[in-house]
Amino acid sequence: MRAEIDPFHAIGVSHLAHELKAKGASIIHMEFGQPSTGAPAAALAVAHGVLDSEAMGYWESPQLRARIARYYHERYGLEVAPGRILLTCGASPALLLALISAFEPGDRVALARPGYVAYRNTLKALGLVPVEIGCGAESRFNLTAAQLAALDPAPAGVIIASPANPTGTIIPKAELAAIAGVCRERAVRIVSDEIYHGLSYVEPAHSMLEFAPDALVINSFSKYFSMAGWRLGWLLSPADHAPIPRTYASNLFLTPPSLAQHAALAAMDATDELDGHVAVYRRNRELMLEALPRLGLRSIAPPDGAFYIWADIAHLTDDSLAFCKQLLRDTGVATAPGIDFDPVEGGHFIRFSFAVSTAEVEEALRRITPWFAARGG
Ligand SMILES: Cc1ncc(COP(=O)(O)O)c(C=O)c1O
Repeated sequence: MRAEIDPFHAIGVSHLAHELKAKGASIIHMEFGQPSTGAPAAALAVAHGVLDSEAMGYWESPQLRARIARYYHERYGLEVAPGRILLTCGASPALLLALISAFEPGDRVALARPGYVAYRNTLKALGLVPVEIGCGAESRFNLTAAQLAALDPAPAGVIIASPANPTGTIIPKAELAAIAGVCRERAVRIVSDEIYHGLSYVEPAHSMLEFAPDALVINSFSKYFSMAGWRLGWLLSPADHAPIPRTYASNLFLTPPSLAQHAALAAMDATDELDGHVAVYRRNRELMLEALPRLGLRSIAPPDGAFYIWADIAHLTDDSLAFCKQLLRDTGVATAPGIDFDPVEGGHFIRFSFAVSTAEVEEALRRITPWFAARGG
């Protein structure tokens, strides 16, 4: 079972950031994709009440599953039976359960490169074979139906991410439909990671479920709902498949935290507060997109969603990890090296996360502008 798992280098950058902070440096954390805001006020109020009144045993909230089912109706116009929803400790175990329940060891599973580092690593840990498809600026770093149709032999599965990490780009509706069509024809099982839904600046993201009713869909309270540390997410499976991941979950993880489930139910109705965060990210995105070309970072795909900018720094380095560390030491601005997301091209990319306050984005830009200028930006 032992697999070779690649390290997450952004964690190394983050450790360095904390070391520098302990020595008195002022650090702006743009290396991780997590909201700097806490859980919505209504969720916190519920959590305080539950702490004082409940024993909190093993539990999967029927109310929360029903509320998530309603979310699919409200957001995408889809009818989903609550029994198809499995509550998990975040999207990470939902991904694991989706892969374990849908594939056999040795199955090939396609995914975009660049992509979220855990896709490749989780596939490898399960004895599945990642088939990374290089996706460049021409497709805004997203996987296309044509690329999937051209894979020979057809893979057993594909992981779709829209909006994507590290690019924030969204796969357009027609392309999602075309991907679903190719997968239907070629019997490719779809796992769709929809963790950044709710965070879009151009057009709302569509769920893969609209086009592929048998897709396995994962989602989480970590991003839009601003509850990363509460460790809660879900896996949505077709009705005839749902018992399989549920059986695994009850053996591997039992249930997710009760406290988080109570709080999340309230968070799902905290739309004004949560949309307020999106308004902050929208402003941060504008500031970054205005500033980066002036720094010489012109090769960027403007993100449609999430809170990332994937920037090509080929004119400056092919060692993105050393670059991020130097940038951090000199300016206190922590970023993620591209090698985490793309083992082939990632040496000349970095990822900025703008899930911080607007004041921090302004300060980060003020600090990095002369730094890039000194390097010919
Ligand atoms: C694309 C993507 N999927 C899944 C996750 C895992 O999220 P969590 O386990 O916190 O729900 C992340 C975290 O950054 C992510 O970026």
